[in-house]
Amino acid sequence: MSDIVISGTGLFTPHESISNEELVESFNAYVEAFNAEHADAIAAGDIAALQPSSADFVEKASGIKSRYVMDKAGILDPQRMVPNLPERPNEAQSLQCEMAVQAAREAMAQAEKSASDIDAVIVAASNMQRAYPAMAVEIQDALGIEGYGFDMNVACSSATFGIQQARDAVLTGSASCVLIVNPEICSGHLNFRDRDSHFIFGDVCTAVIVEQQETAQGKDQYQIVDSKLRTIYSNNIRNNFGFLNRADESGIGQPDKLFVQEGRKVFKEVCPEVARQISEQLQANNIAPAELKRLWLHQANLSMNQLISRRVLGRDAREDEAPTILDEYANTSSAGSVIAFHKHRADFSAGDLGVLCSFGAGYSIGSVILRKR
Ligand SMILES: CC(C)(COP(=O)(O)OP(=O)(O)OC[C@H]1O[C@@H](n2cnc3c(N)ncnc32)[C@H](O)[C@@H]1OP(=O)(O)O)[C@@H](O)C(=O)NCCC(=O)NCCS
Repeated sequence: MSDIVISGTGLFTPHESISNEELVESFNAYVEAFNAEHADAIAAGDIAALQPSSADFVEKASGIKSRYVMDKAGILDPQRMVPNLPERPNEAQSLQCEMAVQAAREAMAQAEKSASDIDAVIVAASNMQRAYPAMAVEIQDALGIEGYGFDMNVACSSATFGIQQARDAVLTGSASCVLIVNPEICSGHLNFRDRDSHFIFGDVCTAVIVEQQETAQGKDQYQIVDSKLRTIYSNNIRNNFGFLNRADESGIGQPDKLFVQEGRKVFKEVCPEVARQISEQLQANNIAPAELKRLWLHQANLSMNQLISRRVLGRDAREDEAPTILDEYANTSSAGSVIAFHKHRADFSAGDLGVLCSFGAGYSIGSVILRKR
């Protein structure tokens, strides 16, 4: 197999950040107002009083301390609790395109690629801001790239699934250099009025360049040693938003048209599968866990990552072996493991090995073994 490499990564981080304390203050103001407005119905036992959220709970249960967002004011306004992101005219650059272009430019600079070197663009994310034309085609045009582009969605695993599609395209010769972008505006599908999940997500965009080793010129290249994808059907993370919603008006605006999950079940069911997949993949590639320098894991929950890395390594991982970015970024869906890879690899020397791994709705698991060149 000819060597395929990741030759650059990029990261766009929104300017505004919300701390747990700020988020909880807004949520609790909403709870107080709701309970006051429905005091009689609550007293009569017709509806249950809403319970307040707690910043301590959020950090203990998830490891999250803050999240970046595209619009802070709309989210924190207890009357609104939705980002305020005005629609733009068709002639203007769309928001996901704007984020993607910034992340892509950093990845291209790192890989020392200009637009004419790239011939495919994959937008891999949990949500596209419109049905069509594909976001990828707009991003391709904004960057001046020729060739083809398409969108794909495997929820939190979109980025790793995208990397494997890019690797396969380069291997078969249907593309020579692929740009993958992950513009995740998770605040758009998060129910900020849901106590169980209002703290989970943040917004961000990552970018990755995949090409043949022969054409790669960047100074920081990682050979894709192996890539493995797996999906197992589950309803425990679900979002029923879709184009058929208008065909049944009774469902419009209901909570299931946003992110919903059974967090505890997800935790219990997904961790063992992820650990098993990475362990089996390492074994199939004759790599001992002790040879791994790093696990760049999906960033949903700190305890999940500690459990997975313990199972893979056979001992507790040090922070530098399984770095955390969710404390600052929260869960950024498919971008999380790529942010960890982008920010935590400067200490790699030639030959060092790591695993980039995502997991989430589907369920979906993607794991990519990388060797520094
Ligand atoms: C979401 C998650 C952080 C919740 O943590 P958890 O420990 O499972 O918490 P639970 O939902 O079981 O709730 C535990 C208790 O805290 C309470 N609680 C829930 N949300 C709360 C909040 N915001 N503030 C205070 N208390 C809260 C619950 O009511 C419950 O109380 P009880 O024990 O009296 O019934 C955790 O389950 C998780 O991260 N799971 C994995 C999710 C994941 O990876 N999803 C992928 C998304 S792409």
